[in-house]
Amino acid sequence: MTAAEVCVVGVGYVGLIQAVGLASFGQKVVCVDLDVRKIEMLKKGVPPIFEEGLEETLSTAIDDGMISFTADIADARRADLFFVAVGTPTSERTGNARLDYLEAAVSDIAEIAKDGAVVVVKSTVPIGTCAGLQLRLDRDHPEKRLHIVSNPEFLREGTALKDFFNPERIVIGGADEAARERVKASYAAFADRGIPMILTDTSTSETIKYAANAFLATKVTFINEISDLVETVGGDIEQVARGIGLDSRIGPQFLRAGPGYGGSCFPKDTLALATIGRRHGVQQQIVETVIRINDSRRFRILKRIEAAMGDKLSGKRLAVLGLAFKADTDDVRDSPAVDIVHALLEEGAEVRSYDPVARFAVDHRGYSQCDSIAAACEGASAVLVATEWADFKSFDFSTIESVVERRYIFDMRRVVDVEAPWAPRWDIERIGSPMQR
Ligand code: UGA
Repeated sequence: MTAAEVCVVGVGYVGLIQAVGLASFGQKVVCVDLDVRKIEMLKKGVPPIFEEGLEETLSTAIDDGMISFTADIADARRADLFFVAVGTPTSERTGNARLDYLEAAVSDIAEIAKDGAVVVVKSTVPIGTCAGLQLRLDRDHPEKRLHIVSNPEFLREGTALKDFFNPERIVIGGADEAARERVKASYAAFADRGIPMILTDTSTSETIKYAANAFLATKVTFINEISDLVETVGGDIEQVARGIGLDSRIGPQFLRAGPGYGGSCFPKDTLALATIGRRHGVQQQIVETVIRINDSRRFRILKRIEAAMGDKLSGKRLAVLGLAFKADTDDVRDSPAVDIVHALLEEGAEVRSYDPVARFAVDHRGYSQCDSIAAACEGASAVLVATEWADFKSFDFSTIESVVERRYIFDMRRVVDVEAPWAPRWDIERIGSPMQR
């Protein structure tokens, strides 16, 4: 049996990054997941997600004997520290984050953990969840004196490993000081580098996670609204973003205008925060407005495409370049690109898509996913760039001039090289630049 000190329960994207990260710090990690197929893949060094550098880091950890995988939580009974990173999907019915996976995982851990073990919640959870879990543990296993600690993650998909090794802060929330110190010790490498550690209570820690994502979603939504203004009154959104972002009080990041935020985090977390606010009678009006604006943005984009196509999409063939919710990931959850594909199909258009990594299947006669940009653009009346993949930035559109029906690009990410020699032969519209019609 593994002589594990640290256990990670739930090896999705957050758990796996946490596990390989701690393993590379020299901590012995045992990973537990109910999905036996996933465990078998991981044992062979095959990560279930696409993430830069992950496969190599995982292989090294396996070769060094620092990481192991099991479907049986009992294999982790020697651990004194458990990181729980199971999913907390939004309930369709209530809008709240569902906690059943988390509660089940914590109960399983409590059954096998030794006295005084620390259970760290990495999953994003409604404010007050950790306090509730602590009460349950105290009630169900008083003799074990187990401690709940909140330690939210701030990893971005696509750069998750880099983010893990270069955090801007570590947040550790818990009622018990020794338990917080145990978690802090697992991040000793960061403390040595002077990375700020915020040691606080569980509610503050949980709130930091939601507030961070909601603030970033607000920043994106703000620049998107200014972008709409620029499209009408004139100007250039990139220069506006640069002009405000150089003010260190504002900062340059998350000011790229686009088709709206998506992915598995911002939509879910903003909704959860709004729901928490309402439940407690403290309506989060800014966040609620952000959600509304972001939801309607996809419709607004559709209208813009329609205007460019002379109002009728029915029977037209369109190429959609990029399906992932952002570049460098294969994740299509809540992806604006996917919503736009659906909307176009509903309007009766034929859609041919291409993404370097992401796959998206929809059972619709008018839809096909192609394996090259050229194939997707064949016969297209419009080329819609929906994800900012580097492949699209460097793409030489002159190579597909003969295959498209019309040389029209609608660039929702402002990645297409408008200075390229072929650009004058194309009609290029971009989000955040004045509309041509
Ligand atoms: C986000 C946060 O950035 C992470 O800190 C957090 O840990 C993570 O959620 C999470 O809660 O797990 P992620 O969803 O991977 O990370 O993606 P981001 O890079 O933050 O992008 C979110 C969305 O905003 C994407 O749809 C992206 O295209 C959009 N975005 C971002 C813009 O439209 N413009 C920008 O300038 C930045």
